[in-house]
Formats: sequence, structure tokens, C-alpha cells
Amino acid sequence: MDKFLVTGGRPLEGTIRVSGAKNSALPCMAAAILTKDELILENIPQVKDIDTERRLLASMGAEVELTQDHSTRIRCATLSDPVAKYEIVKTMRASSLVLGPLVARAGLARVAMPGGCAIGGRPIDLHIKGLEKMGAKITQEHGYIEARAERLKGAHLVFDKITVTGTEDLLMAAVLAEGETLMENAAREPEIMDLAALLTKMGAKIAGAGSSTIRVHGVERLHGARHRIIPDRIEAGTFLAVGAITGGDLIVAGCEPAHLGAVAAKIQEAGARVETVAADAIRVRGNGALRGTDISTEEYPGFPTDMQAQFMALVTQAEGVSVIKENIFENRFMHVQELVRMGANIKVDGRTATVRGRSQLSAASVMCSDLRASASLVLAALVADGQSVLDRVYHIDRGYERIEEKLRSVGAKMERVRTAPDPAGNPPENGGEE
Ligand code: EPZ
Repeated sequence: MDKFLVTGGRPLEGTIRVSGAKNSALPCMAAAILTKDELILENIPQVKDIDTERRLLASMGAEVELTQDHSTRIRCATLSDPVAKYEIVKTMRASSLVLGPLVARAGLARVAMPGGCAIGGRPIDLHIKGLEKMGAKITQEHGYIEARAERLKGAHLVFDKITVTGTEDLLMAAVLAEGETLMENAAREPEIMDLAALLTKMGAKIAGAGSSTIRVHGVERLHGARHRIIPDRIEAGTFLAVGAITGGDLIVAGCEPAHLGAVAAKIQEAGARVETVAADAIRVRGNGALRGTDISTEEYPGFPTDMQAQFMALVTQAEGVSVIKENIFENRFMHVQELVRMGANIKVDGRTATVRGRSQLSAASVMCSDLRASASLVLAALVADGQSVLDRVYHIDRGYERIEEKLRSVGAKMERVRTAPDPAGNPPENGGEE
């Protein structure tokens, strides 16, 4: 398993470019199931989860090519085996995104139950409830969900909880269903708007994506399309936090400032200077004096749970107290103990973490546990004195494209120590998943 060696203490300066959004690319790739035609997606990030999705689609009979120019061409002319197997699903929960499209396209889906992961139980009961409401017959046995339907029927779906992939899964089920579907209490993330934009290009009839009420008029078939994936707002937010915590001066380029409102506001509130300098670029300057700032994670457009760990690392360097409430997942403080080992002062009580700063962090050997917790350890290592060793960086590689190269390009002293890859090319056994 690869490690990162990171030596802290340098303000990072320059321009750092954001890749395409992993959490938009994953549902958009699954949308290829809905047509026999070819789908071409651009601005695909070269991260592990995308390759997992490629393997998943190929295992079902799709032709999937990931090109070197950050594009993918997918054709699901036939789906010989509409099964998402446990070996793949256990490494990436987002595999459940094929459930809706498979039932809509093939009338049948068998998807391994994702199981829990480092940050929580991650049930998909709301996905299943929606499909049942649309007429699917659901059975669960041997750790798999099987869903069958001659043709799904439009329905009035009200989500008990706001769920991002639940909204995406059922949106993809609804576009080929018979009649109208009304989705209420839907998630509003930009990734859902991006998926709806793709589906519309494929011939779907959707209104309201990005709001909590989405209307879909089902159609008989969808055709191929070409679509460019939106920038990754969480990678962009992570780099804003990097500029702030190192007291540097970074231009985060190729981003969508409109998707970063809550994150930019909180990093500014913590004392950094944040300003939009172009339609696709934000400048962040850390002038050293950071101050304690509270956050409470909420669904979009609130402060994203996927930025909670990174912000916690940031406020270990702030004078005063910061109260961090994690409202979305039940166990998303895996980074706390590692940050404490580096010298941070953090106390956890249930879903609330209280950070007292400023702490001088000292370099240590630390363990990555999940994607965003790992990003927070990179942030901490960039300001710790000495050289830190980050183990199990495959967690970071799932959602950040060549992060060590991007950070080195703006002055970070950071290198990857490669260890022998698995000869079969499989992810590490406990490849974790989010
Ligand atoms: C998506 O996960 C993202 N993943 C996550 O990003 C992100 O943290 C999360 O949304 C919240 O924003 C992808 O888009 C691939 P949810 P998802 O369904 O859809 C509960 C990352 O770091 N729930 O919105 O799985 C659930 O347990 C990853 O890139 C149910 O109870 O999250 C959670 O408490 C990590 N039943 C809450 O809802 C369900 O059927 C929100 O989960 C579904 C969800």
C-alpha cells in the first residue's frame, strides 16, 4: 500500500487545477445503462472510484473505455449480466447507483447490499422504497437485492430523508417509467443537476432538478449524448483549505465558484481571504491569523459533510474554540484521533467535535481511514513540523487525482512511496468505501 511522505511548514503558492467531479461522474456513467447508444463523458477524473465503476459496468456486459484525455466512452448495447457483484460493491457503495437504471432498462437488477463503511451504516432503504412505489418487486437474499419490473410506473415519491444517490438512482429509474413521477424532499446537490442535464441531452423530460421537487415525464427510450462533467467542488474546497492552513496564496482554477458558497464563506469567516477572481477560479490567501469558527454540516447548499474533516484540520490552527457538528453521517470523526496524535486538541461528544486552537502540530505516522479523513491528514501534515508518513493512501486515490503532484506544483514537499501493487490489480482487501 502506497504511503505519502509530507514535510510541513511551507506556505503554498501558485495555481492548482481542479478535476471533474467524481460524485457526478459516477451517476452519469451509470446513466449509460439507460440506452443502447454510445455515451461520451468528458472531464472524468482519473481516480480509483471511476475505475471501479468501469469494472462494474464492464462486468455487466458494457463496453467501457477510459481515455487518457479524461473522457470515457460507454456503450451498453447488451447487458448480459445485470448484476452488481459483491466483490465490486464492497469497495464502492456508489455501485448502488446502477440499481434504478438496470430495472428501468432491463426490468431486472441484482445488486449486492453495500454494507456499512468507515463513516456509517450507509443503508439504501430509501432507494428500495422508491422503486417499490414505482412497481418494482423487491426481494433480498444472500446479501443481494433483486428488483424486477415489467415496466416501472411513475409515482409520487416523498423522501423520508434527503439522499443524494437515492435521488440520482430514482431519477434514472423515472426517466423511462410509464407516466409522471413527482419527487419531493429530493437532494439539491449540483451533481444531481449535472445528471439531469445529461439525461435531458439523452431525451429525458425533467423539471426542477436542483430544487427539492423534481418532476419527470417518462419516455419510451433514450439516445446517446456527449456531456462534460462539472468540476469537483469538494476537491476545490479542499484546496481552498490548503491555501488557508499553510498561510499561502493559491488560485484554485477550473472550479465552479457558485458551488462553493458555504465553503468559501466559512473559510473566510475563519480568517483567510477568499475571492472569486474569474468565472472558474477562486483565490485564497492565508494571512496567518485564523480564528475559531463553528460549522454544522447540512445538505446542499449548506456546509457539505464532505468538507467537515478538512475544515477540522484547518481550525486546529485557529485561535479559540470551534464547534463542529456532523449532522449527516453517524461516524464521520475517524480523522479526530489521528489529528490528536499530531497534537491537536479535539474532544468528541456524539456528533459534536470541539476543537481548541491554536495547536502546533508535530509530524507523525498516521493512518488514512476514509476519503475525506485522509484529506484532512494531508492538510495537517502540510503545517506539522517535520516529516509525516501517511499510510493507506489508496483512500485518497479514490477521490483525488494525483494529489501529490498537484500539491507539489504549488510548493508542497510531498512524495508518494510506492509499494508493490496487487498482482491481480485489485484494490487492497480492506479497500474501504464511502
Ligand atoms: C453521497 O453519498 C456522496 N457520494 C457522499 O460523498 C456524500 O458524503 C453524501 O452523498 C452526502 O452528501 C456520492 O455521491 C457517490 P446520502 P450517499 O444517501 O448518497 C442516509 C465522498 O466523500 N440514508 O445522501 O450515499 C445515510 O445513511 C462521499 O465523496 C438512508 O438512511 O449519501 C446518511 O445518513 C462520502 N437511507 C444520509 O441519509 C438511504 O436509502 C445521507 O446519505 C440513503 C441514505
